[in-house]
Amino acid sequence: MDKIAQLQTKMAEAVLGGGETRIASQHKKGKLTARERLQLLLDEGSFEELDMLVANRNRGLTADQEQFLGDGVVTGYGTIHGRLVYVFSQDFTVYGGSLSEPHARKICKIMDLAMENGAPVIGLNDSGGARIQEGVVSLGGYADIFYRNTRASGVIPQISAVMGPCAGGAVYSPAITDFILMVEQTSYMFVTGPNVVKTVTHEEVTAEELGGAQTHATKSGVTHFACSNEVECIQYIKRLLTYIPQNCEEDAPVYPYEKTDETRLALNNIIPEHPNQPYDMKEVIAQLTDTDSFFEVHRDFAENIIVGFALIGGRSIGIVANQPAHLAGVLDIHASVKGARFTRFCDAFNIPLLVLVDVPGFLPGTDQEWNAIITNGAKLLYALSEATVPRITVTTRKAYGGAYCVMNSKHIGADLNYAFPQAEIAVMGPKGAVEIIFKREIEAAADPEARMNELVAEYTERFANPYLAAEKGYIDEVIIPDQARIKLMKGFKMLENKVVHMPRKKHGNIPL
Ligand code: HXC
Repeated sequence: MDKIAQLQTKMAEAVLGGGETRIASQHKKGKLTARERLQLLLDEGSFEELDMLVANRNRGLTADQEQFLGDGVVTGYGTIHGRLVYVFSQDFTVYGGSLSEPHARKICKIMDLAMENGAPVIGLNDSGGARIQEGVVSLGGYADIFYRNTRASGVIPQISAVMGPCAGGAVYSPAITDFILMVEQTSYMFVTGPNVVKTVTHEEVTAEELGGAQTHATKSGVTHFACSNEVECIQYIKRLLTYIPQNCEEDAPVYPYEKTDETRLALNNIIPEHPNQPYDMKEVIAQLTDTDSFFEVHRDFAENIIVGFALIGGRSIGIVANQPAHLAGVLDIHASVKGARFTRFCDAFNIPLLVLVDVPGFLPGTDQEWNAIITNGAKLLYALSEATVPRITVTTRKAYGGAYCVMNSKHIGADLNYAFPQAEIAVMGPKGAVEIIFKREIEAAADPEARMNELVAEYTERFANPYLAAEKGYIDEVIIPDQARIKLMKGFKMLENKVVHMPRKKHGNIPL
């Protein structure tokens, strides 16, 4: 009995992490503890902790460096909605959640188990970075984790929630994982903090402005989700997992679906009469997908493209869609990168893709050209071209120029291409085209403006439609919009067993 009591004492000590005072200080900052977070994340009673009694080594600058059981991270496995996940949750109450060698080994252990057993890894990050007392072994610990993140990429889903500080090289573990979530006001990520920024560039900036959740959700795109609090953050992780499989060998879960009237009359009225009038592509998405199933990713970044998961007939799909309500749905650097990264996630994890097209082209300008729209636009083209999952395109309105090719055209391997009757598929819009090919004729006309209008009308009639593309078979079918959901349900079902063999190679060389 003494031995059992001894173990219980040790366990109780480990559960307290850095102790009551530091737990109170964590709560005072509006943050939950590492264990409270896991309790919210995992199914009740499912958590199995590993390495609870791992302790930090005494490498102190002083002889009396405190030892803490667990060493600043709680690791193990459990279930979410009954499905196995591996987790680590950094404990800020122990040396600020900083990463020591044993701390890193604990994380690596669950990552190795996750790889061997094919289940997602979820990291809850809250850490002051490398354990200063440990020196290079802490840096080595980080590199061990980065290496595993990279090896696991595309094999098992990896999700990082940033729920406190995440600075210096530590940011690169979340950066390699598939999805990052941040909590507003209590989390930040940056390579160098405000003090270093001030010294080097003389810029005055707060931690929140430099690397808070809003900054990374809107400006840099580093985070996919900015959550208003920790509870919301954990709910997002749980919802995200419902759309994705356990590993690259499996399919996403299928949910019971009760058939309804799949004709969606509202779709006949969403696309405006005038081709330059904006509309919200999210309304189209809502009509095409199962009720309330759309889960947007990267909502506040590059809003001219929409990406996210949804269900169609209870089956998970990924959506990449131009958004005519924002910058007319033009493709720019950020939109291309956002679309490409999401596409690659879906392809790696067997999630079929639906691409909705209403795109006037690529954004012109020195800013775009000098920041490499060529290379970045090519990312989206490459990502879609290499995707072997079932791929269906619906062109709702414009598909002009290079953007036509890029947005999941038949030529780059889409399986089914539908177009609404309002679709305009051509090299460029009527006005731009007429100005180039009839330049001399318009200049020579008695009334240049009237002649131009005539020619624009003629061009619109001849080219700004889906029928030339349909004649060539580039569009499989021009459909009445209210039939689109039925076409998608049947199409994805037909493509369910699609197999594509890629040419033998080590790996491709996506333009980075
Ligand atoms: C050891 C650390 C620590 C660290 C914090 N602590 N960071 N211990 N190594 N890196 C300890 C503190 O001593 C303190 O211990 C407790 O954690 C809480 O820290 P506070 O400063 O009281 O908390 P707070 O005011 O909330 O500030 C949090 C903080 C700050 C912003 C994270 O602690 C900080 O700036 N820490 C240093 C961050 C840093 O420079 N890390 C190295 C980055 S370089 P007590 O005993 O009082 O509870 C890096 C390289 C990674 O990480 C490279 C990978 C390749």
